[in-house]
Amino acid sequence: MTEGPPGSDRPRQPIRSYVLRGGRITRAQRRALDELMPQWGLPFTPGPLDLDAAFGRYRPRVLEIGYGDGATLIEFARMRPDTDFLGVEVHPPGIGHCLLAIEAGGLTNIRLIAHDAVEVLEKQLTADSLDEVLLYFPDPWPKKRHHTRNATTSGGSCNRHSPPSLPTA
Ligand SMILES: C[S@@+](CC[C@H](N)C(=O)[O-])C[C@H]1O[C@@H](n2cnc3c(N)ncnc32)[C@H](O)[C@@H]1O
Repeated sequence: MTEGPPGSDRPRQPIRSYVLRGGRITRAQRRALDELMPQWGLPFTPGPLDLDAAFGRYRPRVLEIGYGDGATLIEFARMRPDTDFLGVEVHPPGIGHCLLAIEAGGLTNIRLIAHDAVEVLEKQLTADSLDEVLLYFPDPWPKKRHHTRNATTSGGSCNRHSPPSLPTA
């Protein structure tokens, strides 16, 4: 939280890095959010995440930021069963879609956090907790006026928190 405008004792709300798209959620996606999220989801908490406990094992770990409907996350998790994948997304239909695919594929190496990836990077993850960070098409239609809330711009969290050795896609 930053200082508010001069003369105001109200703290200014932090700039959010995303705009929640609308979009219809299907009944199956709603069911997945209700029934599968408790199994495959991790809560956002403003403290370091214990990934060993979350996955129940210690393996290479990959974070995908803004996985959309999860197509890439699902495919990678299927192809690399010895790697654990953490997906962070804010769009409920996409999260529901991904949960359904986890269930259909019988995958056990994915965990999802339904929260702003900027806050997850800042509060829950440390650079040495991850082996790879994936970020595909984060902002296909960039607008100059959105520069300050883009997670990937020079001051953005992804840049601040990714060590140079981390491959980003
Ligand atoms: C253009 S889509 C790309 C989706 C996917 N990566 C792909 O390649 O198909 C960008 C996605 O990033 C998600 N997103 C944007 N900002 C985010 C943030 N701060 N935290 C989590 N997800 C975010 C959006 O909800 C959206 O699903």
